Amino acid sequence: MTDGMDGFETRAIHAGQEPDPATGAVVPPITLSSTFAQDAVGEHRGFEYARSGNPTRRAYEECIASLEGAARGFAFASGMAAEDAVLRLLPPGERVLIPNDAYGGTFRLVARVLAPAGIEYSVADLTDLDACARDWPDGTTMVWIETPTNPTLTVVDIAAVCALAHARGARVVVDNTFATPYLQLPLALGADIVVHSATKYLGGHSDVVGGCAVTNDPQLAERIAFLQNATGAVPGPFDCYLVLRGMKTLAVRMDRHCVNARAVAAMLADHPAVSRVLYPGLPDHPGHDIAALQMRDFGGMVSFLAAGGEDAALAVVAATRLFTLAESLGGVESLIEHPARMTHASVVGSPLAVDPALVRLSVGIETTADLVADLRQALDSL
Ligand SMILES: Cc1ncc(COP(=O)(O)O)c(C=O)c1O
Repeated sequence: MTDGMDGFETRAIHAGQEPDPATGAVVPPITLSSTFAQDAVGEHRGFEYARSGNPTRRAYEECIASLEGAARGFAFASGMAAEDAVLRLLPPGERVLIPNDAYGGTFRLVARVLAPAGIEYSVADLTDLDACARDWPDGTTMVWIETPTNPTLTVVDIAAVCALAHARGARVVVDNTFATPYLQLPLALGADIVVHSATKYLGGHSDVVGGCAVTNDPQLAERIAFLQNATGAVPGPFDCYLVLRGMKTLAVRMDRHCVNARAVAAMLADHPAVSRVLYPGLPDHPGHDIAALQMRDFGGMVSFLAAGGEDAALAVVAATRLFTLAESLGGVESLIEHPARMTHASVVGSPLAVDPALVRLSVGIETTADLVADLRQALDSL
């Protein structure tokens, strides 16, 4: 960029957010109008009807596109709506390869909504590239990556999967929800599309549900724009404003999430009530080296296995005071949950089923020592 907007933090605050030309408002106004006056039939000032486009949404779309290094961004009513639009790029008969520990909602969408509509799917371990190459399912035209994954924090080598998929004529989509564009830029590593649950770190304050998709490919962009308008799962202007406001502080929040997660992971690794810590920042994590290469830092999500199995996991999630027992993640406040019975209940009995001893933490940006002490007292109480 040549307009003084090279830095991530600068773009987070300014991209798509010029002062309002009509009033000078520094913050993009929340434009509520569902329709826009035309000067003559077909002559409008960029907006016709708010499902097709809205100024607050456009500011958000330009900002997330800039942060991901994309030409175009598209906002949706939720992460699932964004995923649905992207998966609908596949015509019936084509196949998507999804990771064996994808977010449960992604698996449910593919297996129970899109498969009955004729889209084929296969489940693979995307960390085993030799097996993926050997067993590449016929007709695969899309590979879905999540990295780090929810909830096991598995790290997938984005550039290597892109090389494998592109050589076989498949597009690659990366769900960048856990890493955010501050920590990881999948398009620069070869991905074709990035999707987000903006409900998480982009919004950052657990007060909005949203999603988005970005791409550099003009044909894919045109098709996603069509689907966004045709299926209509768009966010309202206030929700767009909340995500836009959240993104302004993404960099500083992510830095603090990473510091706190590192401290929490270190304590857990030493605690006798924990049998295994899943955090890409730990040197013994199987994806540590790849994460160190493709991420700026290791993120704010930490999972661990309770040594005492499911009963111990359930006792820990009930015993924290600062970590609130709740689904979702990526907000400023720390959350704890039991994936097998909560966020990932929809994959019980499927190839994506989660170990019932697993506990997932969304480490917030509170005082580091308070978070570590809270988890320690919960584990000590077992
Ligand atoms: C990695 C990931 N992708 C997508 C989604 C779906 O997003 P939403 O809940 O905003 O629809 C989630 C939700 O938890 C998620 O964790």
